[in-house]
Amino acid sequence: MEQIAYVNGSFVPMSEAKVSILDRGFLFADGIYEVAAVLDGKLIDNASHLARLERSVGEISLALPETIERIQEIQRELIARNNLASGLVYLEVTRGADKGRDFAFPKGVKPTLVMFTSVKDIVNAPSAKTGIGVVTVPDIRWTRRDIKSVALLAQVLAKQAAAEAGAGEAWMIEDGKVTEGGSSSAFILTQDDVIVTRQNSSAILPGCTRKAVVALAEERQLRVEERPFTIAEALAAKEAFVTSASLFVQAVVSIDGKTVANGKPGPMTARLREIYVEFAKQTAT
Ligand code: PDD
Repeated sequence: MEQIAYVNGSFVPMSEAKVSILDRGFLFADGIYEVAAVLDGKLIDNASHLARLERSVGEISLALPETIERIQEIQRELIARNNLASGLVYLEVTRGADKGRDFAFPKGVKPTLVMFTSVKDIVNAPSAKTGIGVVTVPDIRWTRRDIKSVALLAQVLAKQAAAEAGAGEAWMIEDGKVTEGGSSSAFILTQDDVIVTRQNSSAILPGCTRKAVVALAEERQLRVEERPFTIAEALAAKEAFVTSASLFVQAVVSIDGKTVANGKPGPMTARLREIYVEFAKQTAT
């Protein structure tokens, strides 16, 4: 059966899911996206993703074409129509298609809303056992990285550099410190067992998985420090890992070809992954 997508009010086969070439998402990357995980056919931490969606669209003065409740209904219907047990729901809202290409906001144009699903066994991903390598690249993005904008060219280039090096992710560096991964939040565990991740600011995307992992760790009296860290610190750390909706908690075992600790996923990463998977299953909606 062909995959079903959602486009502006209709559920259609993927081959018929189309938007105009005048869509501002296409012309200007004038849009916002979200990615939520699905386990057992249910959405993971979706309220957090939808809250970030509302914040992101607010920051660029874009009015959602549907209510948050309706968006959640559409997500659920798409999961059902695609028989999705485990994977991801992608959603994107753009400022719509005007009659031409004017930079300023168009008047009377309805925003575009599209969604599609993809199959992914996040819990049993092979890389969860082996960990991933990361490469470092300069962070060349704009300065409002707290907005989940579809302008992802810097991340495309960063993740292509990772792929060419046989690595699973790129860590972006600014002023000598790691900002975050191309599509994930970055963490280390110091030799004295402090979990370190950069504090939220306009320098990074406020990761939903990051937020949940920090809260779950603190509930268990694990020490968490929110501050930037360097690659030298990460290479001297006990463990390193990344978090995202599409990976959950994933060990980082090498950086630019140099191993972190013994080059294997560490016990804290494994524990946090287990805790997160448990949280995900228990709070899925
Ligand atoms: N990426 N930082 C960046 C730059 C991201 O793109 C993402 C998510 C994260 C992690 O956020 P969350 O935990 O809310 O998924 C951090 C998604 C998964 C993507 O682009 O596919």
